[in-house]
Amino acid sequence: MIKFDFHNYVDSLIKKEDYDKLMDNKEKVLKQFKSSSMIGWTKRIDNNLVNKIIEVAENIKKNSDCLVVVGIGGSFLGSYAYSNMFKSYFLDDNFEVIFAGTTLSSQYMSELLNYLENKNFTLNVISKSGTTMETTLTYSLIKNLMIDKYSDEEMKKRIILTTDKEKGSLREEVIEKGYESFEIPNDIGGRYSFLTAAHLLPLAMNFNIKRIVEGYYDGGEYLDEAFEYAAIRNSLFKSGKYVENFCVYEENMYYFTEWLKQLFGETEGKNGVGILPMSTVQTRDLHSLGQFIQEGNKIIFETFIKVNKSNRVKCNLGDLHEINNIVLDSVVRAHYSGGVPCNIIELESVNEEDIASLIYFFQLAAAFSGYLMGIEPFDQPGVEVYKKEVREGLNK
Ligand code: PA5
Repeated sequence: MIKFDFHNYVDSLIKKEDYDKLMDNKEKVLKQFKSSSMIGWTKRIDNNLVNKIIEVAENIKKNSDCLVVVGIGGSFLGSYAYSNMFKSYFLDDNFEVIFAGTTLSSQYMSELLNYLENKNFTLNVISKSGTTMETTLTYSLIKNLMIDKYSDEEMKKRIILTTDKEKGSLREEVIEKGYESFEIPNDIGGRYSFLTAAHLLPLAMNFNIKRIVEGYYDGGEYLDEAFEYAAIRNSLFKSGKYVENFCVYEENMYYFTEWLKQLFGETEGKNGVGILPMSTVQTRDLHSLGQFIQEGNKIIFETFIKVNKSNRVKCNLGDLHEINNIVLDSVVRAHYSGGVPCNIIELESVNEEDIASLIYFFQLAAAFSGYLMGIEPFDQPGVEVYKKEVREGLNK
């Protein structure tokens, strides 16, 4: 059960008529949303596909020491953020999943290749387009290493390509070489692809993905709240609050805020509008950006993710988790008194189902928010501009 408070620490700082007007658009926005060709992520995933993902993951566990996942942006952040939230800080006994393909750092790449030299591994390359340079480049480096290590027959067991059903070089390779493959459906864009094989296969190495699937669809219960949040964000934007700070009080939620930044940043940042997403991990950042948020330029509003229950640790001031939440509540009051509106999203605990529901909630909210802003939520033409420049730069 997730609770939402979008009003107590917000209403006095927005114009009620803006909010009411946006809420009046609900029916229109829902109609627009439902008629989009890019909402495949709201449809039920096929059980046979889920079972196949589990089977492939079990085979990887049998023949490999680790899984190397290569992808970037929406083909990376969902599973990476989710895994990080449930990883032990010090005693990581999960099956090893290495996420690569997000950097062109030579130091990183040489260390990765050295590390993999003595490992038996499976490679899962994830790219909807099949043309993203970081992904294809990393794939080719790792594949060269595999050619030295494995026979063609063995490569067939160790390369899995997750890509478009028909288009792109990865799909061509699947057809030509007979590699195992999964589809990223046509009606699901990268940052909305959490509930596809792109993320479910990496997650299946360490999670019961059937629970993730159920939790995700439970997020549909919060459609009204997702619209309300979208309307609040847009009223804040109209009142000159151009930046949203996602605040978490659990270190291991940092990459979840990175996922949020991508979701909202790529969805809304178009046609000269959009709310700039940022994040702070508390209490660390209270001693850095906290000063700016409290007293600096009043362009920021915040969305806090509060967790009610965690491990019990007694300290000289009482229960440590309660103290963490007392600090959160105090920061909300302090920032609000400094003219910073604060939304609060409250989780009972960081558990696998609720996080999956929250992902669905945020995807709905991002899409609704985009429509309220008057932009198309499911494309990312700006990303294509840089990709084109890079292609031209490399051909010089
Ligand atoms: O959300 C998106 O669509 C993007 O962030 C893409 O996921 C990212 O650019 C990677 O694209 P691809 O999966 O085609 O390699």
